Amino acid sequence: MAKKVTKAIFPVAGLGTRFLPATKSVPKEIMTLVDRPLIQYAIDEARAAGIKEFIFVTSRGKGALEDYFDHAPVLEQELRSKGKTELLETLKNTNMDSGAIAYIRQHKALGLGHAVWCARRLIGNEPFAVILPDDVIAAEKPCLQQMVEAYNETGGNMVAAMEVHPERSSSYGMLDVDDDQGELVKIRGMVEKPKTEDAPSNLAVIGRYILSPNVLKNLNQLKSGSGGEIQLTDAIAAELTQGHDVYGYRFKGQRFDCGSKSGFLQATVSFGLARDELRDDLYAYLQDVMMIDKAAQ
Ligand code: UTP
Repeated sequence: MAKKVTKAIFPVAGLGTRFLPATKSVPKEIMTLVDRPLIQYAIDEARAAGIKEFIFVTSRGKGALEDYFDHAPVLEQELRSKGKTELLETLKNTNMDSGAIAYIRQHKALGLGHAVWCARRLIGNEPFAVILPDDVIAAEKPCLQQMVEAYNETGGNMVAAMEVHPERSSSYGMLDVDDDQGELVKIRGMVEKPKTEDAPSNLAVIGRYILSPNVLKNLNQLKSGSGGEIQLTDAIAAELTQGHDVYGYRFKGQRFDCGSKSGFLQATVSFGLARDELRDDLYAYLQDVMMIDKAAQ
């Protein structure tokens, strides 16, 4: 049986240039969908999957992220004295137990692989999850929980997989499929951002991973080898050449690319429509906008 996954790395050291000027002073992960920052969705998903240790790989200017997980005694006292128990409860979800959360600095944005490698000493010799908070997944059963359940049966390495239009291959790591078992896909290779005609399948990797500690060793090799960005995909692909298993997992749910403006706006509308107190107003507004748009055509 596979070793339990209790640690997760959250790489949040990127510059977030697609959201400038906002990200000049606000970390991308603190930007909110309705009323919760992206990072809260990621943390909730990790908790549901049984994660107990949360490792953030951060960079300069991400102080707001650390503050977000701290207790806020003045605010809490104020809410208590006003009897706002529901809001107090909401705040509780943002608190982390002492020692459950760790921050590591990535001093230079050398790529996702390098960010994960920065956390190697905190991972040690255990399997671990990686969650990219700008991939937000709406799902009945949280995506990482689905993956952990599958991983408990398979072991090895696992990446979240999603079908994409062939023309979008050049934006993703794409899977070369060996054995398609439906939900689970055994893979024989991975190609980072191929041209449409070079994509080995239409299955793309998105921001959820369960990895063996050996991937950190592979990253070590890559780190000492190449210049430029250090790709996590390359370190996972190296697992295959060493005879270790890598699976794609077709999760159930809808993924929003909140690292892009369009994806972020789509997520805002979807999460807004999912809220009882907002649905009717928002829906009526969207209908109005569509009518005006149609009339203008
Ligand atoms: P992105 O490719 O979205 O880059 O990184 P970015 O810097 O966040 O955003 P743009 O493209 O400039 O707008 C994907 C994930 O990997 C992390 C990011 O924080 C994000 O969660 N990352 C990327 C790092 O932690 N370090 C890096 O060197 C690169």
